[in-house]
Amino acid sequence: MSDDLESLNGVGSTTAAKLRASGFTTIEAIAVTPPREIMEKTNIGFNTILKIQEAARQMVATDFKTAQEFYEKRQTMKKCTTGSRKLDEALGGGIETQALTELIGEFGSGKTQLCLMLSVMAQLPPEQGGLGGKVAFIDTEGTFMPERVYQIATLNGLDPQNIAGNIFVARAYNSSHQCLLIDRLFTLCPDNNIKLVVVDSMISHFRGEYVGRETLAERQQKLNQYLHKLIRLSEAYNLAVVVTNQVQANPTAFFGDPNRPAGGNIMAHACTHRIYLRKGSKGIRVARVIDSPYLPEVPVRFKISEKGLEDTEEGGDDLDQESDIV
Ligand SMILES: Nc1ncnc2c1ncn2[C@@H]1O[C@H](COP(=O)(O)OP(=O)(O)OP(=O)(O)O)[C@@H](O)[C@H]1O
Ligand SMILES: [Mg+2]
Repeated sequence: MSDDLESLNGVGSTTAAKLRASGFTTIEAIAVTPPREIMEKTNIGFNTILKIQEAARQMVATDFKTAQEFYEKRQTMKKCTTGSRKLDEALGGGIETQALTELIGEFGSGKTQLCLMLSVMAQLPPEQGGLGGKVAFIDTEGTFMPERVYQIATLNGLDPQNIAGNIFVARAYNSSHQCLLIDRLFTLCPDNNIKLVVVDSMISHFRGEYVGRETLAERQQKLNQYLHKLIRLSEAYNLAVVVTNQVQANPTAFFGDPNRPAGGNIMAHACTHRIYLRKGSKGIRVARVIDSPYLPEVPVRFKISEKGLEDTEEGGDDLDQESDIV
């Protein structure tokens, strides 16, 4: 982490203090935040901010890169196991850092369970399939269950106190509180070696608060802004971001699954990987990667058990009933 703000051209101790007091404690955070936002929070002049950002970008190299440099950055990308070998394979090895992964599904499909499992697995060292770091969990629905974390940790042979002690949980009470908490991640993550960020769910407050067509544009703009913040966070600190999303009824669908993910194109475009979860027969879950830039859309089965997520040999023809969600 580069927190030596005074080393930036044009930043003296007064400016550095203003930046730090507003939560911009690292050069990365300054480089990747829109200038208007820094201005609003710090009261530093716009032109000064542009100069500071230019210096910050040079230090963290956010300018054009060659394809080779880009390739090398992607080599530092890490993958976190889900606990299910089949699901990991479908994901190309696991949940990726430097990316935003969206879990989509109806109630009870296993989104929160997968988030809890990942919160434990992310803490494993990389050679055991983890990310070797801590976890930040933004819970918007009050469904984060610490007991479940203890259970998953214990049954996977880990020290539950230690695991639970490394998960920072915040309950977001409304969409603006959720936005504040996301802003807070830019200091919380580098200060605590956080390697997984979960927002469960990304959209429920937005959907609940912005009702009616006339508020839709504002809602989508806010959602877009915060999804992009999460992407910047994942890239700046090489961490994985997982958000959950509900499905909503699509009354115009004549064929296939009448449900589609909420959040429209904004969600669809911001998320690097989208995973659609649904209940199969006999309590089995089916996951399918949708809209991925490079992963095939092959459905896989797994089960939710006391241990968290596991592979399963059970299940019948439920893979064939794959719905037409888009
Ligand atoms: N300890 C456990 N052992 C086995 N299965 C469990 C256990 N705990 C939860 N489950 C399963 O997980 C399901 C709940 O899934 P989860 O809460 O992840 O759904 P969700 O997709 O987050 O739904 P929502 O949209 O309502 O938030 C339960 O119905 C149950 O089948
Ligand atoms: Mg849930």
